[in-house]
Amino acid sequence: MTYKIAVLPGDGIGKEIVDQAVRVLTALNLDIALEEAPVGGAAYDQFGHPLPPSTLELAKNSNAILFGAVGDWKYDSLPREHRPEQAILGLRKNMGLFANLRPAILYPQLANASSLKPEVVSGLDILIVRELTGDIYFGTPRGVRTAEDGAFKGEQEGFDTMRYAETEVRRIAKIAFEAARKRNGKLCSVDKANVLETSQFWRDIMIDVSKQYPDVALSHMYVDNAAMQLVRAPKEFDVIVTGNLFGDILSDEAAMLTGSIGMLPSASLNASNQGLYEPSHGSAPDIAGQNIANPLATILSAAMLLRYSLNESAAADKVEEAVRQVLAQGLRTADIYEEGAEKVTTSQMGDAVLKALS
Ligand code: IPM
Ligand code: MN
Repeated sequence: MTYKIAVLPGDGIGKEIVDQAVRVLTALNLDIALEEAPVGGAAYDQFGHPLPPSTLELAKNSNAILFGAVGDWKYDSLPREHRPEQAILGLRKNMGLFANLRPAILYPQLANASSLKPEVVSGLDILIVRELTGDIYFGTPRGVRTAEDGAFKGEQEGFDTMRYAETEVRRIAKIAFEAARKRNGKLCSVDKANVLETSQFWRDIMIDVSKQYPDVALSHMYVDNAAMQLVRAPKEFDVIVTGNLFGDILSDEAAMLTGSIGMLPSASLNASNQGLYEPSHGSAPDIAGQNIANPLATILSAAMLLRYSLNESAAADKVEEAVRQVLAQGLRTADIYEEGAEKVTTSQMGDAVLKALS
């Protein structure tokens, strides 16, 4: 069977980094058919929409999507529905990509890149499981209206709705418990149950699901405390499961613990194992087109793609091993550069990974 992969480079550095991951995927001698389509600001420029129907169709008909990044300041004044971010939100919602896996791993060679003390972060290996298609991101009603009660009655007010359906919580819980079971058996569910009804509901369901996983130790933490513990003692965590909004914030924090957001991949999966794979970092328009961005997060995302959507875990291992090798060789793009290392460009980093693969 030929695997179909939709390649959506997007904006900013998207094209440069995705190019390198495509080279890696192509070098593996798997039966893969890659097809590229515009997304984000690039698609808006061409089709007047950040997620044109043809791009969505291609994505839906693929086994997996390799995604670069979207966004550029020049689209900031567009109405919300035309902003590049709508492309990623639209892909998540339309394809039901509810499970977002965001590993934060500190590679030993990059221990100095973290702003935290080496003893606090060395050996860090945590996984954030973020629910991606519910919560206040998509809850309705939302908008701007005239307040009908309260102290500000009669004024205009902005409002959103935080909500989670039972099925949504159960299915993300299952993903997280399964992941914890394959790792160190520790799962921390993060919520704000001391204030929010949605969170208490979330917590009750987590406890219920935990009955099916007696081998996994479930704990609960309020999100404010979790933000604090992540910088105080991040290695206390193994797997964190949380909702869309808290997960958005905590995963950026966790990424920065490693000091190198240019290294972190992510996967967003649906119930049929289709997945969207993208680096955790953004489109970095300030350095776009200069061939200096770090392609490793995208290359590692391609490894996740191989593992989760194509079931090619041997190939995934090979790619991850190749990345470890180039780091061990001392090759560094500008974002992870330190004295004594060899500074390389985006494409040179790609060359090195290809060489390590062969
Ligand atoms: C992310 C991003 C998106 C999000 C934006 C671009 C809509 O920050 O993938 O974390 O908030 O989910
Ligand atoms: Mn984010």
